[in-house]
Amino acid sequence: MDTVLSIKNLTKHYGRVKALNNLSLDVARGNVFGILGPNGSGKTTTLGILLDVINKTSGEFAWFGQPPSKEVRKRIGAILETPIFYPYLSATKNLQIVAKIKGASVENIDPVLKRVELYERRHDKFRTYSLGMKQRLSIASALLCDPEVMILDEPTNGLDPQGIAEIRELIKEIAKDGKTIILASHLLDEVQKVCSHFCVLKKGNLIYTGSVEDVSKGAVTVEVSAEDDDLSEILEAYEGSTKVEKDGVHHLVSLKEGKTATELNAYLFSKGITVSHLNTQRKSLEKQFLELLAESDNA
Ligand SMILES: Nc1ncnc2c1ncn2[C@@H]1O[C@H](COP(=O)(O)OP(=O)(O)OP(=O)(O)O)[C@@H](O)[C@H]1O
Ligand SMILES: [Mg+2]
Repeated sequence: MDTVLSIKNLTKHYGRVKALNNLSLDVARGNVFGILGPNGSGKTTTLGILLDVINKTSGEFAWFGQPPSKEVRKRIGAILETPIFYPYLSATKNLQIVAKIKGASVENIDPVLKRVELYERRHDKFRTYSLGMKQRLSIASALLCDPEVMILDEPTNGLDPQGIAEIRELIKEIAKDGKTIILASHLLDEVQKVCSHFCVLKKGNLIYTGSVEDVSKGAVTVEVSAEDDDLSEILEAYEGSTKVEKDGVHHLVSLKEGKTATELNAYLFSKGITVSHLNTQRKSLEKQFLELLAESDNA
């Protein structure tokens, strides 16, 4: 795996507020990585630390296998909050100013304006832009230095449904250009639609990390009943199970990704057990996410 970002035991306390606790995770090149969590879960804090605008309390992180530095920072484009553009200047003029500040080539301006589909409107004043167009100009501005990684904090906040759809499409296009994207969102649906991988933060704690595909496909849970005193142990001994619980009526067997009820049944049969009940439960990502958030309360 070509690791673009590696975070180890990152912690941030604001006085008594523990905004981030021992966060460890890796982001691979080409991923569209979502940091998902409710308000106040530590998403912006994490991104701020990664961009050197917030000081960490402890822990470390490496970009491209290197400790943070000015050089490394140049390879990362970011929108933490809406950058300030001059309202009475056009998109082109505004980007010329940004290019000068960042030391980017003005040759990049037209291509990035085309990329975010503002080229036609490039001579219009910024103040005449819709919210979605303003957000696209922010993205254009972050793209000016042709960064390898793009960091976006809640990129669709405040936009109408069409604006949201446009930004999501744009993020996917930018990913296709080969850039790694790290995006914070409190919207499960957004992460599901845009990201390849994601983690879930809750009150500064990492409670899940994995690929969106795995969760969408969803490792299944199978309800099993059979007349056998040793059923629990036999189910637990199954190499395809990750967890066995009882809901009063049935045994609930969480299977590994890709394992099916049919395979479980064959296994039980090989152990001399004939089941009286076998049913596959499928969970939506939504349900799993809510469960994850609830589960970690008890942890
Ligand atoms: N400058 C600060 N001083 C004190 N506490 C802070 C500061 N910034 C953030 N916090 C606290 O740290 C925690 C994490 O905040 P953070 O902004 O990282 O969350 P978030 O996941 O980005 O939330 P949102 O979805 O609302 O943007 C919260 O409890 C917040 O109140
Ligand atoms: Mg935030």
